[in-house]
Amino acid sequence: MSTRPRISARISAISESATLAVDAKAKAMKAAGRPVIGFGAGEPDFPTPGYIVEAAVQAAREPRFHKYTPAGGLPELKQAIAAKTRRDSGYAVEASQVLVTNGGKQAVYEAFATLLDPGDEVLVVAPYWTTYPEAIKLAGGVQVDVVTDETTGYLATVEQLEAARTERTKVLLFVSPSNPTGAVYSREQTVAIGRWAAEHGLWVVTDEIYEHLVYGGAEFTSIATAVPELGDRVVILNGVAKTYAMTGWRVGWLIGPSDVVKAATNLQSHATSNVSNVAQMAALAAVTGDLSAVAEMRTAFDRRRQTIVRMLNEIPGVLCPEPKGAFYAYPSVKELIGKELRGRRPQSSGELAELILEEAEVAVVPGEAFGTPGYFRLSYALGDDDLVEGVSRLGKLLAEAR
Ligand SMILES: Cc1ncc(COP(=O)(O)O)c(C=O)c1O
Repeated sequence: MSTRPRISARISAISESATLAVDAKAKAMKAAGRPVIGFGAGEPDFPTPGYIVEAAVQAAREPRFHKYTPAGGLPELKQAIAAKTRRDSGYAVEASQVLVTNGGKQAVYEAFATLLDPGDEVLVVAPYWTTYPEAIKLAGGVQVDVVTDETTGYLATVEQLEAARTERTKVLLFVSPSNPTGAVYSREQTVAIGRWAAEHGLWVVTDEIYEHLVYGGAEFTSIATAVPELGDRVVILNGVAKTYAMTGWRVGWLIGPSDVVKAATNLQSHATSNVSNVAQMAALAAVTGDLSAVAEMRTAFDRRRQTIVRMLNEIPGVLCPEPKGAFYAYPSVKELIGKELRGRRPQSSGELAELILEEAEVAVVPGEAFGTPGYFRLSYALGDDDLVEGVSRLGKLLAEAR
């Protein structure tokens, strides 16, 4: 019998997606009849707008879409993504610089696989979205955390980034608005960080998937546009999931210099080939249409954002800075760790989240999933009534902590 491990070391090292795990557990409890309220899912609770669905139905009827199409994306969609990028962030790109991917997630994997050699370091601001570390690791890269906290609204400074830079640093990952914190960098902060990266010859991989979800006075700034000095060392990741409530359709994209896009397209041509043509045609309707659907969602999210922040901050031991974008609140619960609650003494935010799911039937994702224990992530992309009920239950339970 072979003693070799059944699963490769590379793949064994990948952890389960904690956000999907929390969501699955909450859904299973719900299916078993328990009235669970889930703050775990990172997806809008709205259906995809009708005109987008209609475009997909029509595409499904067209025999040309029943066949393979170019691995890098339908030419008309690549063209439309280039035009949309010029429209929304003022960044000039050609269709040849666009690769259409199976969701933003595949764009994340392909960007790091294309840029990183073993040992290359990537600066990642923590708290970070759970997928980045796995994509970096799989590519052989080394993640270097730049840890932020609630006292600065989870924003990193040039000084912090510079302290983490070494001669092995190749990439800065820049995410604004951020998942999980909702932090949004101002134009000035973005320019300062971009110029610092350019000065040191770093690549910037920037995830712009929440570009249209900013609130109050906050503004989205594309680092690619704001810092032309970055030249051909910028890779933009984006997709239709969050803007058009299209998480299940699986269409994202990567924009970059032509050598990077060509190499990433080669990878995709062997891994997955073209994204489903039906989904691509739906995405074409989305990106060529107007932004009224996202404007409506933004109004609802903004209302829920204000409610959740207010209610969370009313709970003793919970401290929630105001998120300026995306649809997540990221409160600190550090004061509650180690306190007695319903006969138990949770020693981590992970244990506290488990206790909350069991005792209050409320699902939140613990900060361990995002590289910073001591916090919770709550998505406010759920109905207003559920949101109020869920945070009320949380407040009632946590008020018992001694
Ligand atoms: C920051 C960020 N980037 C990318 C994605 C990927 O989205 P999708 O693969 O659904 O397009 C997500 C989804 O949660 C995200 O939060």
